[in-house]
Amino acid sequence: MAKPQILVTRAVFAEVLDRLGEYFQVQSNQADEVWSKAELIARLQGKVGAFTTGSERIDAQVLAACPMLQICANMAVGFNNFDLDAMTDLGVLGTNAPDVLTQTTADFGFALLLAAARRVTESEHYLRAGQWRRWRYDMFAGAEVHGSTLGILGMGRIGQAVARRGAKGFDMQVVYHNRSRLAPDIEAHCGARYVSKEELLRSADHLVLVLPYSQQSHHAIGVAELAMMKTTATLVNIARGGIVDDLALADALHHGRLAAAGLDVFEGEPTVNPALLALKNVVLTPHIASATIPTRMAMAMLAADNLIGFLLRGQPVTPLNVQVLESAQHAERKG
Ligand code: GLV
Repeated sequence: MAKPQILVTRAVFAEVLDRLGEYFQVQSNQADEVWSKAELIARLQGKVGAFTTGSERIDAQVLAACPMLQICANMAVGFNNFDLDAMTDLGVLGTNAPDVLTQTTADFGFALLLAAARRVTESEHYLRAGQWRRWRYDMFAGAEVHGSTLGILGMGRIGQAVARRGAKGFDMQVVYHNRSRLAPDIEAHCGARYVSKEELLRSADHLVLVLPYSQQSHHAIGVAELAMMKTTATLVNIARGGIVDDLALADALHHGRLAAAGLDVFEGEPTVNPALLALKNVVLTPHIASATIPTRMAMAMLAADNLIGFLLRGQPVTPLNVQVLESAQHAERKG
């Protein structure tokens, strides 16, 4: 029997393509070409599964134009590139890649926090520019990290991993805000105390954002929220662009209403607001929080396992809308 056909939308590890090739006829994109929506739709014809990344928008138009598509497996924990309601309505399963990137992403949150608070990149640029002539007592003096108050907005797996690093490694007082409060034993394990969003903003010396992007979290940090923060505070965004109002943040950083920021994600990325690019007190990285080879391999293998588990056995590993499997629309796609 012919193997089912799948599409891999972006370049990926050869090992992952080899594994997928054991079970599927794979069309890949190792040249990492940029496809328009029409090109994506054209390549999805005849495919029952897609290996996607955060770069591909999977919406009702794509789904309606690809009637054989049964599953999109995202190589990311975030899935705001999926219109999950449309996927559910149109009978397509979505999966993401949670857990495997938790520790690596939390490490990077701390990398940005330390780099921003201790002015690592700013001082490096100064040194490379040949401006370092002699030592001075207050040269690039930054904010204390150990022993300070760490605020976390969004206390899922990654938020909890950031909290543990702060509480256990840096003796920080950790406060958090989340849609729902964690169970007492989890709070104790993270060394974290639940507070209102306003108290979080007012008390944090360093605030790390780790909440998923949605209409509700759009501009969760805007002019009003920034105004509540300490002028000495650091803001770190390892969550998603759009959670912070980048222009309002740039304005606050420029006028000294906030000391520093570390940003891995941006509104409209890969374009970065020029107002941020012009500032020295912000550390900017190109969405690399989960980027270590072992972690990216694990994320890609998990996406592959979702395709294999679902298309061969009907058992996805990390489904987002498992209820879709019972729907008439899904049955129709399976033919
Ligand atoms: C990265 O941003 C992810 O969602 O995995």
